[in-house]
Amino acid sequence: MSSINNVKQPTQESLEIAAHALQAGELVSFPTETVYGLGADARSDSAVASIFDAKGRPSFNPLIVHLPDQEQAEQLVYFSETAKQLASHFWPGPLTLVLPRKPNCAVSQLASAGLETLAIRVPSNKLARDLLALSKVPVAAPSANPSGQISPTTALHVAAGLGGKVSIILDGGPCEIGVESTVVSVNDDIVTLLRPGGVTREQLEKLLGSIETAAPDSAITSPGMLLSHYAPSCPVRLNATGKEKGETFLGFGPGTEEFETMNLSSNADLTEATANLFAYFHQLDKMGSTAIAVAPIPNVGLGVAIIDRLQRAAAPKE
Ligand code: TXA
Ligand code: MG
Repeated sequence: MSSINNVKQPTQESLEIAAHALQAGELVSFPTETVYGLGADARSDSAVASIFDAKGRPSFNPLIVHLPDQEQAEQLVYFSETAKQLASHFWPGPLTLVLPRKPNCAVSQLASAGLETLAIRVPSNKLARDLLALSKVPVAAPSANPSGQISPTTALHVAAGLGGKVSIILDGGPCEIGVESTVVSVNDDIVTLLRPGGVTREQLEKLLGSIETAAPDSAITSPGMLLSHYAPSCPVRLNATGKEKGETFLGFGPGTEEFETMNLSSNADLTEATANLFAYFHQLDKMGSTAIAVAPIPNVGLGVAIIDRLQRAAAPKE
């Protein structure tokens, strides 16, 4: 596959190539602790437009801007006291804050999909941080997969989905967390969970007390939460306790060994299951599964993010 030629091991040289590509308005894929991102200069309308184009992403679905630290974020958006508290507690790490844009915000309106807010995240992955530091570019980056498909947790997933469309793919190995960041909007002291992810609700509520949840169909607060998403190309059945004809069974925890094809975590560890989720979906898809049945997952901690992605994978495709 020719598209694999642009997968590069991280070296000073490949980092410099990637940084220059970003500065030149090109697309670069890089690892984060959650999933691989498809990055471009967030200040450039044409660079941001090329992200939507490469992914086939609807332009009403805004992007997350990646920055090295909170100080840089404060040049783009307003931080309430609560937002500052969240940033100092969870950054760098898998939390995205949706905050009001400043009038002089340098980020393209396209990245905000015309909203008055901007989503910002400070990743902890070392390669991502090195790239942000070297390029000095605020990087708009959705997950590096064709829109609606499974998010990539390895460089080869990116190469298989979008390889020919990016200048370079930095290979940082498998992503540590394996699902996307948690997205919250912060309106003064009101925090609303828009997408469950790598930071759990329990962790957020330990810091802030109880937080709000966006209504599932609130298009305004969460324009990107399209129902069918993260989807393999075959039907997915949830909460399965057995295997029906033609299905491949994806287990969780012990007890289904005799009919499972893979197990997200045989000792029912949610962190391990999260790290395996997308990679296993990629594998099942590649194996040509025609139907996937998934064992029940506990609805706590990281299990909430797993269930969210599974429900989107199982939703009817429009
Ligand atoms: O872990 C992650 O967040 C990964 C890595 C690459 O950082 N990125 C990622 O981006 O998952 P993406 O584009 O696949 O998801 C961004 C989510 C979408 O659900 C989008 O609707 C929401 O963030 N979002 C972005 N800006 C928003 C805004 N201004 N208001 C509300 N939601 C927003
Ligand atoms: Mg995505």
